[in-house]
This record gives sequence, C-alpha cells and structure tokens, in this order.
Amino acid sequence: MEIQVFDSYEEMSINAARLVAAQVRLKPDSVLGLATGSTPLGLYAELIRMYEEENLDFSEVVTLNLDEYLGLGPDDDQSYAYFMREKLFSKINIDPDSSYLPDGLAEDPEDAAQEYEMLADMLPRDLQILGIGRNGHIGFNEPADAFPVETHVTDLAESTIQANQRFFDNADQVPRQAITMGMKQILAAKKIILLASGADKAETISDLVFGKVTSQVPASILNLHPDVMVMLDEAAARYLVEAYGFDDEDIAGE
Ligand code: F6R
Repeated sequence: MEIQVFDSYEEMSINAARLVAAQVRLKPDSVLGLATGSTPLGLYAELIRMYEEENLDFSEVVTLNLDEYLGLGPDDDQSYAYFMREKLFSKINIDPDSSYLPDGLAEDPEDAAQEYEMLADMLPRDLQILGIGRNGHIGFNEPADAFPVETHVTDLAESTIQANQRFFDNADQVPRQAITMGMKQILAAKKIILLASGADKAETISDLVFGKVTSQVPASILNLHPDVMVMLDEAAARYLVEAYGFDDEDIAGE
C-alpha cells in the first residue's frame, strides 16, 4: 500500500485525477470503478476540466459504480445514479450506456445484486476509485463478523445512516438498505486508489494503515491487494504524520 499525503483536498483531488487521466490516455477503453459521496467530487471536477481543456476522451471508457441505495431510482436526486449523472457523466463525453450502477428500483434486489456481480465479472476494473466511511466501510461493506464476498443487499450501519444524513433533510429519509459490490469485485481491480480527506477520517485511516486486517474495519482488506494508492489530505493523515514524524516538506504538493 502506497500512501501519499497532500497539503489540501484540492491537491489530493488534482493528483488523483492525473492518475485517472493517465489510465484513460494509456488505455482509452479502460474500465473504471467509481464511488459517490463527498470525497471524489474534486476528482470528478478535475476530470471534467481535463475533458474540457485538455481533450481527455472518455468516449470508450466503461464505468461501474460500487453501490446504490435501495428504493431510489435514477430520477431521485438522492440516488447515486443521479449523483453520477450530475457530477460527472453529463459533463464529459462518456457513453451513458457504458456507465453502470446497481438497480436501486429492482423488483427483486437479490437478483439485481447477482446480475451486477455477473456484469462486474465481465468488466474487470483497470482502476477502482474508493472513498472510505468513518466506520471503515468501502462501498457499503459495513463492519461485520466476516468480509462480504459478492455483490449483495446490505443493511446500512447506524453510523453510515448518521454520516449520510447530511445529504438528506433528516436521518429518517436515508434509505436503510443498498446494493453494494462485495470485496471480491473490489479486490479484482488491477489498481485501487482510495481517497480520504478531513479530520473525521483520520482515525479510520490510522486503523487501515497500522491495524490488523479485520472485517470490523472493512477497508483493511486492501492491505492484501498488490496495487493500492492511498491519497490523503493532511487532516485525514494526521495520525500517520504524528506516527512517522513527517514534517511539512514530506507532504506532497508543498
Ligand atoms: C460511495 C461509497 C462509500 C463512500 C464513503 C465515504 O459510493 O461507496 O463507501 O465512499 O461512505 O463517503 P464520503 O466521501 O461522503 O465521506
């Protein structure tokens, strides 16, 4: 696991976008695994800028998102399908038919999860973007007694409902379930970039880097993957900076 610490969220986002852009330029038909939430917003904004100003071409790119809330369709402004359309897909030249998310409105969500697993088997990711929950989740793989393996229907942890209520009017409106890729598909990606920013992620990042591999910190499984880049802003890296005794000169982007 390689760790890069940047002096700001903006620097982190720009550097992550450079890696995604390099992937797309080297392999125009790359399959990208994407995440939603606050963390990748800066990355997506920079990719849009690169598309507009630097001819970054997404016409052959295929994307698969990690997860979707159950009960929310693509027209619901809280759905992840809507988020991806608003924050990225409608602003670049990606083919909407090549951008996949689990179906939040599926009549049979278990079937939909299995279908998404098969789709993901057919479209192995060249590069997977991840955020991380304060509780250590990746996708919606919540802390549990075992690592979930395949794409599945999951109950959101209470801590996730609390964390995500900021996007809704109140906690009651946060869906209680989601379809999420499991660890098998996340680890199947050739390369993984995990982004984290802000002081509220510092403790879980410390667990990820210094702790054991445990299903109670789902992201810790990334320690078993051969090509993971963890990109952090200073606030999220706080405990690493203290532990390693980094000074400002060690922080990338200074
Ligand atoms: C979203 C996802 C989640 C988020 C995580 C962090 O698709 O899979 O694991 O990455 O909850 O969310 P933010 O970035 O909003 O802190």
